[in-house]
Amino acid sequence: MKTNPDAPVIALRGLKKRYGIGDAEHTVLDGVDLVIEKGEFIAIMGPSGCGKTTLLNILGLLDRADDGDYFLADRSVESLSARRHANIRSEQIGFVFQNFNLVPRLNVIENVALPLTYKGIRKTKRLQLASKMLQTFHLSEREYYMPWQLSGGQTQRVAIARALVNSPSIVLADEPTGNLDSKASHVIMEELSDIHKRGNTIIMVTHNPSLTTYASRVITMLDGKIDSDTKTLQPTVKVDTTKKRLDTHAAEAPKEKTLRSRRPAKRKTIKKGASK
Ligand SMILES: Nc1ncnc2c1ncn2[C@@H]1O[C@H](COP(=O)(O)OP(=O)(O)OP(=O)(O)O)[C@@H](O)[C@H]1O
Ligand SMILES: [Mg+2]
Repeated sequence: MKTNPDAPVIALRGLKKRYGIGDAEHTVLDGVDLVIEKGEFIAIMGPSGCGKTTLLNILGLLDRADDGDYFLADRSVESLSARRHANIRSEQIGFVFQNFNLVPRLNVIENVALPLTYKGIRKTKRLQLASKMLQTFHLSEREYYMPWQLSGGQTQRVAIARALVNSPSIVLADEPTGNLDSKASHVIMEELSDIHKRGNTIIMVTHNPSLTTYASRVITMLDGKIDSDTKTLQPTVKVDTTKKRLDTHAAEAPKEKTLRSRRPAKRKTIKKGASK
């Protein structure tokens, strides 16, 4: 089926998710409406338990909504089979999990190569691509380390390398800077920023307000709803839809990072309920 190349990358309408049954039932997502265009870098904030991870899991096709519509590139995804979801995930989506989720019994290079297994790429090629990705993240010397031998920052860089190895057009990152200190956080953010500049759409959950300066749009959630939606002055990367999107494998390795001081972006906030 042909899809419209100018369609939003993601469109949600009245999305709901409930957990539990009977008296224990509670609504975690309570009617989320959201349109995300190609090339946006979205930061999602909000108090613990407001539904950020739940939303990201649904966006990443790891979970299903109970109600509402989810269109991915103009195509409704709810009715698709689990197998089709897995295919879409392996072709289009890179996921950085809140708790990293490296597979403990696999070494670093095997962890990074894992998403390519689901694409049916043969082992030698998988390891070559994973090695190249690790080089980009200055982790070549750690290829044969086990996850428990890495520092927090290295673990997170491996998790990001794994999320990007299949050249996803959408990167979902759940608190990618987790418990990292400020310097390590900004290095990770510079990596995500580079990926954004190469034409990819980034949706990142964070608790750290200073990291939202990297985003082109900041969304806050409260009690399973979108509470505010703010465009920043960071540009949305224009994506030429007549060309194939940029391939992260083909992209140049980012230069050694220098921490830039960033002026806080001026914002225009649209409170939910205000006229658009
Ligand atoms: N599998 C589940 N079964 C039952 N309840 C769940 C499940 N997953 C999440 N919840 C509940 O849904 C609510 C939202 O959880 P979610 O993980 O989306 O929050 P969050 O905004 O990501 O929080 P945090 O900032 O702490 O990561 C919480 O109250 C949580 O207890
Ligand atoms: Mg969470």
